[in-house]
Amino acid sequence: MTASPTLKVTIERGPSGAEVFDVPQYDNQTVLDVVSWVQQNVDPTLSYRFACRVGMCGSCAMMVNGVPRWTCRTHISKVLDGNAVTIGPLRNLPVIKDLAVDMDPFFDKWVAAEGIHHGGLTRDDPIAPVDEGSAEREAANAGIECINCSVCYAACDTVAGNPDYLGPAALQRAWTLLNDAKDEGRQTILDAVSGKGGCHNCHSIGSCTAYCPNELDPLAAIAGLKRETAKSFFKRGR
Ligand code: FES
Repeated sequence: MTASPTLKVTIERGPSGAEVFDVPQYDNQTVLDVVSWVQQNVDPTLSYRFACRVGMCGSCAMMVNGVPRWTCRTHISKVLDGNAVTIGPLRNLPVIKDLAVDMDPFFDKWVAAEGIHHGGLTRDDPIAPVDEGSAEREAANAGIECINCSVCYAACDTVAGNPDYLGPAALQRAWTLLNDAKDEGRQTILDAVSGKGGCHNCHSIGSCTAYCPNELDPLAAIAGLKRETAKSFFKRGR
C-alpha cells in the first residue's frame, strides 16, 4: 500500500460527543478500515460492529457524512470532503456506545409487522408447491435478499418523526411473506401492517429505496401492502 495524506476523521460517539482523529490514508481503504485503524492505533475503547467485511452480514452500517452506508463496502476516497469525513452511529436507533446502536427496536418491529414465517404444515405433509413463474413469487423474491442492515431504517424520515412506524425493512419482510405460497399468515400480516405504525404511515419519500445497498425496493413493497390492506378492508366491510 502507498502512504498518502492524512485524513481528518470526526467520529460521533453518541452522548459523549465527537472526536477528531488523524488517520493515514491508503489506496483501497474503506470507511470500516478507517474506524478499525482508530480503534487499533489510537483508542482501543472505540466501539463499533462488523463481521464479514464483504457486504453480507449488514452489521457494519453507520452514518457517513450524514448518509447511512455499509462501511465495509464504502471506499473512503468516494466520500471524502477534501480530506475530511464524519462517521457516526446509525440514525433512528438508540446508541449503546460510540458507533454501536441497539438493534432491538429494529427487530422488534419485524415481529410486530408479523415478518416471521407462519407455517401450517407438519413434517409429514408434502412440501408446498411453489410456482416460480407466478407474480406472487416474483414479488416475494424481490425483497428476499434483505440482510437486515437497517440502512433503510436509518434513512427513513418517517421513522425519525414517528418512532412507532414499523419502517421499511419490517414492512418489506411482511410483503415478502404475504406473497410466499409457503406462508399461511396472510390475514395476520395484513392486520399487523394496517394498524398503528403500519404501512399507511409511509409518505412515499423513497429514501429506503434510494439508499438500500442491495438495491432492493422497500418503497414498492410498502405500496403493495397499502394496496392489499385497502382491498382487504373493503372486502371485509361488505
Ligand atoms: S461487515 Fe458485513 S456487511 Fe459490512
